[in-house]
Amino acid sequence: MMISSTLTKALNEQIGHELSAHNHYLATAVYFAKRSLDGWAAFFFRQAEEEREHSLKILHFLLDNDIAPYIPQTAEAKPGFADAVEAVASAVRAERTVTTQFEAMMAIAHQENDYRAVPLLQWFLNEQIEEEATMGKLLDLVQSGINLFQAQDYLPRPHADGGEEVPESE
Ligand SMILES: [Fe+2]
Ligand SMILES: [Fe+2]
Repeated sequence: MMISSTLTKALNEQIGHELSAHNHYLATAVYFAKRSLDGWAAFFFRQAEEEREHSLKILHFLLDNDIAPYIPQTAEAKPGFADAVEAVASAVRAERTVTTQFEAMMAIAHQENDYRAVPLLQWFLNEQIEEEATMGKLLDLVQSGINLFQAQDYLPRPHADGGEEVPESE
């Protein structure tokens, strides 16, 4: 059975959201790099890379299901944050938005009997739990008032990609 057109559309749009998240984190990395906060910058460069991998995971899922995805337009991201707290707070907000997007897709999957998409969507929901937790810790750190250079010793490690639960597309 094919993936329903409703879920196909949502998944394809999500490729764009993940690419936009990639851009957003690149801009965040630039914000920190410009201030010689290289540990913070490295954290967000890695985070950006993860978002790109997310977009590819969905893209390959669609290809494996005989759907040729289009590549959506992505949002421009400028490193225009008032301060580091705002930069991290915007990451927290962005992750929460993505979580609601996957929750909505999981609801569609159940509605449309798209059972083959459920493991993929559950993988992403698990991923979102971890990313929200990581960004939350980062916000606590930056809001603590600690010197941002010293804070680099306490940056949460970006979690290992738990991609094993859903086999990678070849
Ligand atoms: Fe993502
Ligand atoms: Fe994310």
